[in-house]
Amino acid sequence: MQRLSIHGGVPLSGEVRVAGAKNAALPILAAALLTPEPMRITNVPELNDVRTMIALLERMGVAVRREAHAVELDAGRVAEPFAPYELVKTMRASILALGPLTARFGEARVSLPGGCAIGERPVDLHIRGLEAMGAKVAIESGYIHASASRLKGARISMNTVTVTGTENLMMAACLADGRTVLENAAREPEVVDLARCLVAMGARIRGQGGDVIEIEGVERLSGAEHSVMPDRIEAGTFLAAAAATRGDVTLTHAPLGSLDAVVDKLREAGARVEAQGDAIRLRMGERPKAVSLRTAPYPGFPTDMQAQFIALNAVAEGTAFVTETIFENRFMHVQELRRLGAHVEIEGNTAVVHGVERLAGATVMATDLRASASLVIAALVAEGETLIDRIYHLDRGYEHIEARLAQLGARIARVS
Ligand code: UD1
Repeated sequence: MQRLSIHGGVPLSGEVRVAGAKNAALPILAAALLTPEPMRITNVPELNDVRTMIALLERMGVAVRREAHAVELDAGRVAEPFAPYELVKTMRASILALGPLTARFGEARVSLPGGCAIGERPVDLHIRGLEAMGAKVAIESGYIHASASRLKGARISMNTVTVTGTENLMMAACLADGRTVLENAAREPEVVDLARCLVAMGARIRGQGGDVIEIEGVERLSGAEHSVMPDRIEAGTFLAAAAATRGDVTLTHAPLGSLDAVVDKLREAGARVEAQGDAIRLRMGERPKAVSLRTAPYPGFPTDMQAQFIALNAVAEGTAFVTETIFENRFMHVQELRRLGAHVEIEGNTAVVHGVERLAGATVMATDLRASASLVIAALVAEGETLIDRIYHLDRGYEHIEARLAQLGARIARVS
C-alpha cells in the first residue's frame, strides 16, 4: 500500500497550475451518453475518479480515447445501459449515468451507491425527479431500474439543494419532450460548466447559476468540444496549504470568481490574496488567525473545503467554530489531526478548533478525499515526519499531488 511521507516546516513557495475540476469533468463525461456523435473533452484531470467514470462508460460500450488531458468519447453504440455495483461503490458520482441513460435509451439500471464514509447521502431526489418526468422507477436487488418511452418535461422542486441531483435531472431534461423547470437547483459553478457543455451540444438551457433552471427538451443532441473549468476545490486546498505554512504561492489557471467564499476566509485569517489575470497569489507572513465558518451550498463556503480549514485553524491563533451543514459525519479527519497535536472538540455538527503553536509528525490514516487533504496540510506544517496511509483517497481527487507540492518546495514523497 502506498503512503505519503511529509517532512513539514517548509513554507510553500512558487507557482502551480490548477488542474481541471473533478466535479465538472465527471458529469460532463457522463453527458457523452446523451449523443450518438463524438465528443471531445479537454482539461480533464488525471484522477482515479475520472478513470472510474471512463471505465463505467466503456463498460456500457462507449468508445473512449484518452490522451493526457483530452478525452474523446463516442456513445454511438451503447450495448447495455447498466452501471454495476463494483464501479458505483467506488464512486458515488456514477449515479450521473442515470439521467442520460434514461433520457436517451428509455432504460437504465444503475446500482444504488450504498454506504458512504461521509454520511447518509441518499439519491431520492434524483429518483423523484425522473419519476416527475414520467419514468417508472423500481429498486430491485440494490439496483435503480428506470424506464420511460420518452421523458416528459416537468416542474420539479427539490427540497434540498443537490449538486449531482441537479446535474442528473438537467441532463435528462435536455432530451425530454417539453419544458422542465428545476426549482431550488444547485448553483455550483460545476453545474454551470456542465450546462455550457450541454448548450454546445445543442441543448436549450436557461438560468444555470441561479436556483431556477429551465430546460426546453430537444429531439437529439450533437457532439461537441468542451474544456473543463479549473478545480476550485483543488485551488482552495493549495491556498489553504500556502496560508498554513506561511508561504507565497501563485496559482495559474485559477477559477477566479468561484473562490470568493474561500478567499474571504483566507483574508480574514490574515493572508494577502491578489488576483493577477487568471492567476491568484497568496502571501502569508505571520501565524494565521482563527476563522469561524459554516458550510453551505454555493455561493456559501464549500463543504469540500471544511476539512482543509480545520487544518489551517489547528495552527492558527485563537479558537474557531467550524459548522458543517451539508453532510453528517464529515469530521473524521479530526481524530487524525489530533494525532498530530491538534486541539479540536466536536459539539454536534460544529468542530471547535483551539489553535496550537506547533504540530508534530505522526502516522495518520486518510478516511476520505477532503479529509486526506486536511492531513496533508497539517503534515506540511508539523515538525518531523508524517506518514499518511490510504492515500488512494487523495488520488481520487488530486492530480499528482506529491509532484505538485514538491514543486512548491514541500519535502514530500510517495513511498510503498
Ligand atoms: C457533490 C459533490 C461533492 C460535494 C457535494 C456538496 C460531485 C461529484 N460531488 O456531491 O464533492 O461535497 O456535492 O457540495 O459533484 N441529498 C438528499 N437526497 C438526494 C441527494 C442529496 O437528501 O437525492 C442530500 C445529501 O444527503 C446532502 C445534500 O443533499 O446532505 C447535498 O448533497 P449533494 O449536493 O447531492 O452531494 P453530491 O451531489 O453527492
